[in-house]
Amino acid sequence: MSRTGLWDSHAHMDSDYFAGDRDELLKKLEQDLDGIINPGCDASTSEFAINLAEKYDFIYAAVGWHPEDLKKLPAGYLDRMAGWVRHPKVVAIGEIGLDYYWKENEPKEVQKKVLLEQIDLARQFSLPVIIHDREAYGDILEIFQKEVKNMEAVFHCYSGSLEMAKELVKRGHYFGFGGTSTYKNAAKVRKVLQYVPKERILFETDSPYLAPVPYRGKRNNPGYVELTARNAAEILKIDFEELAAMTTANVKRLFRKIGSKA
Ligand code: NI
Repeated sequence: MSRTGLWDSHAHMDSDYFAGDRDELLKKLEQDLDGIINPGCDASTSEFAINLAEKYDFIYAAVGWHPEDLKKLPAGYLDRMAGWVRHPKVVAIGEIGLDYYWKENEPKEVQKKVLLEQIDLARQFSLPVIIHDREAYGDILEIFQKEVKNMEAVFHCYSGSLEMAKELVKRGHYFGFGGTSTYKNAAKVRKVLQYVPKERILFETDSPYLAPVPYRGKRNNPGYVELTARNAAEILKIDFEELAAMTTANVKRLFRKIGSKA
């Protein structure tokens, strides 16, 4: 076990923000964390994630097309993804979802179509999905109520309502909590954290973005997942070590290929 016993279930180590010190950082993180899952957002970042997973034992990859990156979506992208998901260290499809925040993103109908196609691919390979939902709560919930059956998802950096969380809990899904759960103005996120059964909680950083307090606004890195987890342990009034062990078990249950490889 690592020093903390934690996983960072969502970090973009492919980001250029790590260009100067990526290997140095990962060598240190290998002592601190049990594992990191690096989701892709397009072809180059998905392939980068796979390469990192091949280089480091404790890194696993997810592959997908992020809703902010659909302008360059090539024809035949699903065939290419089908090739990636056969890799033993590709443990999920993600990050995928809907993003209605940025006006320059593709229209809602295009985003929904690509999301459903990727969900279908995940179903074919019995993989979970990692969901990005920014200001698209109603449509995401509708898709998960109507179209998604017999599949598990993690709602990464969950920012939806408590009511929506209740619906997703009923359907067996997981929730990623990151730096935002430590922010002063995030009472809503903390309410969800207190509601969600502990066996559905994952911790994440979304590095290099959304660093937890006291590093808010600075470059995030997977090591800071410890700050989020310690903060959550305090909110939930539970032992940090116990929470770390539970959420690590959650990672291995949701991302089954990790368990089968170990
Ligand atoms: Ni992300």
